[in-house]
Amino acid sequence: MNKIRIAILASGTGSNAEALMKKAQSLNSVEVTFVLSDKVGAGVLEKAQNLSVRHFVVAKQSDRREHEQRVLNLLREYRIDWVFLAGYMRLLSLEFLQTFNGWHGGNSQVVNIHPSLLPAYPGVDSIRRAFEDGVEESGVTLHLVDEGMDTGPQLMQSRLPLEAGESLAAWSVRFHKLEHQTYTQFLELVALGQIPTSPFEET
Ligand code: GRF
Repeated sequence: MNKIRIAILASGTGSNAEALMKKAQSLNSVEVTFVLSDKVGAGVLEKAQNLSVRHFVVAKQSDRREHEQRVLNLLREYRIDWVFLAGYMRLLSLEFLQTFNGWHGGNSQVVNIHPSLLPAYPGVDSIRRAFEDGVEESGVTLHLVDEGMDTGPQLMQSRLPLEAGESLAAWSVRFHKLEHQTYTQFLELVALGQIPTSPFEET
């Protein structure tokens, strides 16, 4: 049986990417086919290297369309089924998503993890902003990606209450653990076929 082929797009340290790569290596029916970063020297590249996962840099450039085309070329070349965004600091255009989804019967197979209970606190610094607002709880959202900023349909949410006297640093550590748990749980559901995958088919 062919494995379900996943590409991870990430710009930063890559703790989510690392959790996903390790989980995939423990499952028979999925593989992280490659990790792609838009940032030269991003920590995620070293993590991929250490886990013997193929990795590419498609560096930021001024022409968004050209950049996205280079990413799409890799996704097509490796017949990628799912794209997992993990701290990828770029929005994907509608054109990009339509092209990728078109290779999967029009189904959306691009997902992202975000550290807030969306639609609250989209964008950057979500944990800090929630903390500074004095919220009693926040959480993690896994969602399908559309062209907006953290706006696509939600697939999973996990809540994370702030404990009495807890610091921002301590809460952030728990956030990242919860992200890793949520994202790897989703990966397992994909691997088990409980989240159906439309295979890559170029028309
Ligand atoms: C995570 O908090 C993720 O939810 C957000 O960016 C951060 C990336 O962290 N989108 P890492 O690079 O996976 O450690």
